[in-house]
Amino acid sequence: MAFATRHFVRTAASSSAAATAAAKKLVVKHVTVIGGGLMGAGIAQVAAASGHTVVLVDQSDEILKKSTKGIEESLKRVTKKKFADKPEAGTEFIEKTLKNLSTSTDAVAVVHSTDLVIEAIVENQEVKNELFKRLDKFAPEHTIFASNTSSLQITQLANSTTRQDRFGGLHFFNPVPMMKLVEASVIKTPMTSQKTFESLVDFSKAVGKSPVSCKDTPGFIVNRLLVPYMMEAVRLFERGDASKEDIDVAMKLGAGYPMGPFELLDYVGLDTSKYIIDGWHSLEPNNPLFAPSPLLNKLVEEKKLGKKTGEGFYKYQ
Ligand code: NAI
Repeated sequence: MAFATRHFVRTAASSSAAATAAAKKLVVKHVTVIGGGLMGAGIAQVAAASGHTVVLVDQSDEILKKSTKGIEESLKRVTKKKFADKPEAGTEFIEKTLKNLSTSTDAVAVVHSTDLVIEAIVENQEVKNELFKRLDKFAPEHTIFASNTSSLQITQLANSTTRQDRFGGLHFFNPVPMMKLVEASVIKTPMTSQKTFESLVDFSKAVGKSPVSCKDTPGFIVNRLLVPYMMEAVRLFERGDASKEDIDVAMKLGAGYPMGPFELLDYVGLDTSKYIIDGWHSLEPNNPLFAPSPLLNKLVEEKKLGKKTGEGFYKYQ
């Protein structure tokens, strides 16, 4: 369902009133989520389920139809567990959540009335910058912008706007409706104001997550630890020190991890992992934790990207 609205361009006259508003902590009521893929749909779902008015934006109605269908199915799964003994309350919960949610293909048209924009589009600096730069012109002064990026610098994204103080990272985990953690409203750049930070922390709690905070450092907390760990496993295997099967078994039984590093790499996608490590390597070429792996590069070149292509480190049916 598209939002039929006029485009509002911010005027200088609105600036001083908005500056006062910006001094107060923002209670987020209206959220615009840009990108209706894996992450955006999940974020829209948890925001709508917790009573926020949400507009989910993507490039075509066809994509949005798929996102909405995915959200409906996910809501049914959540409801089955949450309201196991009260099916009527479950139906009501689904109806209420879907009532809070609308979709649009026109981001500019919907941001004029939003408190928070969460961007979850393709992991590409230029595309994200272009989007934020455009939306900055149309969103009200008080609106906070946040990116769900896994690997890009929040500071670089914030610099494409004039609202660096109202810009932060909100890094959710996949699948969003199931995972408890949202990292870092909470990625706080040196320019993110304390009010923005606190508003993002409050929002994260309001959608039922347990926020942690982090500076704008590559990978934030989880990926900063997880990606070098997975790369070190590949290096261990590349050196012939142990087989990938044994490394996986060892980490599951010895460290209690639910998946071994090679299973996890295949699950995440080898292209995604390569993209992350290459980006960090270009930022810090002398950091051995961020060194690229010839084996990973070879598999990606051969289009063996993991589970999604049927083969990565392992073969899948
Ligand atoms: P995805 O590929 O599933 O979805 C991206 C969506 O954005 C697509 O539906 C695409 O049509 C849409 N899109 C692209 N450009 C657009 C534009 N200019 N305007 C509106 N929509 C646009 O990607 P996914 O996995 O949801 O990732 C999104 C973001 O979340 C990325 O920055 C990624 O790094 C981050 N992230 C991904 C995680 C994961 O496990 N997949 C975990 C945490 C963060």
